[in-house]
Amino acid sequence: MKTTEISLTSNLGNLKLNTPVICASGTFGFGEELCGLADFKSIGAITTKTITLEPRAGNLPPRIYETRCGVLNSVGLENPGLEIFITEKLPRIKKIATKFIISVGGFSFSEYETIVKALDLQKDIKALEINLSCPNLQLKKMVSQNKTLTYKLLSRLRSLTNKVLIAKVTPEVTNIVDIAAAVKASGADFISLVNTFYGMSIDVERLKPRLGNIYGGYSGRAIKPMSLYRVWQVYKNVDIPIIAGGGIEDSADAIEFFLAGASFISLGTINMVFPNKAQEISRGLKKYMNAKRIKAIGQIRGKAHD
Ligand SMILES: Cc1cc2nc3c(=O)[nH]c(=O)nc-3n(C[C@H](O)[C@H](O)[C@H](O)COP(=O)(O)O)c2cc1C
Repeated sequence: MKTTEISLTSNLGNLKLNTPVICASGTFGFGEELCGLADFKSIGAITTKTITLEPRAGNLPPRIYETRCGVLNSVGLENPGLEIFITEKLPRIKKIATKFIISVGGFSFSEYETIVKALDLQKDIKALEINLSCPNLQLKKMVSQNKTLTYKLLSRLRSLTNKVLIAKVTPEVTNIVDIAAAVKASGADFISLVNTFYGMSIDVERLKPRLGNIYGGYSGRAIKPMSLYRVWQVYKNVDIPIIAGGGIEDSADAIEFFLAGASFISLGTINMVFPNKAQEISRGLKKYMNAKRIKAIGQIRGKAHD
């Protein structure tokens, strides 16, 4: 088979991506920070840092601690806020040679609604990822830890926009399938699995937690088997396309996620070490597809379930 016959092109709703390899929120800034370090054309889409209504300075430092096999972070959604995003970041994003997914966060339903309404007016924005892993201040839990709240919030947001709507959920639940079913019922287009797992580390010399926030989100290599299993469960039980991530570091990892049922894969922590990893992984996918005589990645989606 000729390599020219192999295509990585993948449709994210009505958005055509060059490759199903996406950069995950919070690990690629707003794209511009990585100019000169990454080949943007080799990235399917960049998911921005989560935007909240007001600017946020984030949590107390230290905010990042690297463990032997993963990373703990408690960045605390540091971001410039909606207004600066629209007036300063968006005009610059438009000039970058890839697609963008705008990540939206909120601490109440009305905050999410205000942001989605404002972004819906921006014609250059095609896709929104709703970060349902923000702590809800009234409920003291994340929206995606409760299937009713997940359904209610996403249904409201669905009624506010026709842009591609992605729901990013936490793995910190008893049954991820229930949450995925709520996402599907709301009319959202995609589910993004998974955000970080809770974790902590303690400095035995200082006798104190290493993160200023005490605990944080754990990501990277160590979480791959856990995120893969959640993708497997959702694909098996709920008919909704999946953007899968959590610990992906190379093309072999990515292929496991496609075989488990992913339509797209996302790279998070690995971007912080190798910002051009998306290009390497896309090349690795083509090599694998050539060896297996596969023309499109959809041909292996969910194949491990057969
Ligand atoms: C430093 C850091 C910041 C992050 N910030 C966000 C964020 O703002 N919004 C979000 O939805 N996820 C955020 N995440 C989670 C990642 O997007 C990703 O879902 C998670 O890290 C799992 O993937 P990985 O193991 O490939 O990193 C962040 C992760 C890291 C490591």
